[in-house]
Amino acid sequence: MKPLRVGIAGLGRLGRRHAENLAFSTRDCLLVAACSPVQAELDNAPGLHPGYRRYADFDAFIRDDEIDAVVLVTPTPLHAEQTIAALRAGKHVFVEKPLALNVADCERVEAVAREHPKQVAMVGFVRRFDPSYETARRSIAEGAIGRPFVVRSQTCDMNDASGAFIRFAPTSGGIFMDCSVHDIDLARWLLGQPRAERVFATGTIAIHEGLRPLGDVDNGFALVEFEGGVRAVLYASRTQAHGHDTHTEVIGTAGSLRIGQDAARDRVVTCDANGVRHQVVVDFFERFREAFSREMQAFVASCRGEQPVTLSLSDATEATRIGLAITRSLKSGQPEAVW
Ligand SMILES: NC(=O)c1ccc[n+]([C@@H]2O[C@H](COP(=O)([O-])OP(=O)(O)OC[C@H]3O[C@@H](n4cnc5c(N)ncnc54)[C@H](O)[C@@H]3O)[C@@H](O)[C@H]2O)c1
Repeated sequence: MKPLRVGIAGLGRLGRRHAENLAFSTRDCLLVAACSPVQAELDNAPGLHPGYRRYADFDAFIRDDEIDAVVLVTPTPLHAEQTIAALRAGKHVFVEKPLALNVADCERVEAVAREHPKQVAMVGFVRRFDPSYETARRSIAEGAIGRPFVVRSQTCDMNDASGAFIRFAPTSGGIFMDCSVHDIDLARWLLGQPRAERVFATGTIAIHEGLRPLGDVDNGFALVEFEGGVRAVLYASRTQAHGHDTHTEVIGTAGSLRIGQDAARDRVVTCDANGVRHQVVVDFFERFREAFSREMQAFVASCRGEQPVTLSLSDATEATRIGLAITRSLKSGQPEAVW
């Protein structure tokens, strides 16, 4: 079978990483084209051959007949329309999370995907490809902790004193849609896809006052009530002093599992007169480097018909639905139903 011909749209912070993974650590694919409105990003795209196609215009990019699949790493408000356009142009689609910032857009994407059942449409919930999270899920399915009924999960970035991330805030959907959407997806995945009924959220600004006019916070807390007494407790932060500290605990009737505790960079622990300590990862990419690589490998394998897509668009819709309810609760200060 010929290699899958992939085009990437968006070559910013994460797009460059996906391009590197596609070019250098994914078998059976060729990165043949890139799209960005920023010429400098196209000129410096990693893994792109000088002869490969570069597009400033997204519509021209998806009309390229020599692209089989596209990887969309563009700003969140563009995800739904670009996914729909790419599916209609006959491409397999990988799109970064969140799928959209409203449920109606998610459902429109789902409807178009149903019209193109032979094409893959996958959303970037990268943690599902992390080996530790995979092991945890398998253990839970095998009954290792009895019946799981609580997930406590956090996504916490190291503080960026420059506040540069504030420029993403107007388009990210806020801290819960941007960060906790991963924990929401994990909670559903680890707890067996229960239906969320009600949420409560609060938050605070510890450092970054620039978020206040946007109605956003730099530390957010949320409780999700799922059907059947199942619960999730979520924390998101932009202000950690020690590094990127993303971890999850799953509590069951016969035990619990902890995934990614203490944000350890490696297996070295130093014991000296100052105590016992280890280095920590600095950002999400360092923590999930292997998962990002495995995610692209899974996408390419699914497009080539070698494995099923394990992540459905409806999972992405549910993550958006719950994230939006949490965001409403942050603003109203009241518990909010999930609808
Ligand atoms: N899975 C994760 O853990 C994770 C981590 C970071 C970001 N993300 C997601 O990835 C997406 C991009 O985030 P980022 O941090 O790389 O943002 P970024 O701003 O650094 O990059 C966005 C890129 O999109 C390009 N772009 C803008 N408009 C475009 C258009 N119309 N057509 C094609 N390209 C266009 C920009 O030039 C830029 O290259 C966001 O949706 C974000 O939520 C996911």
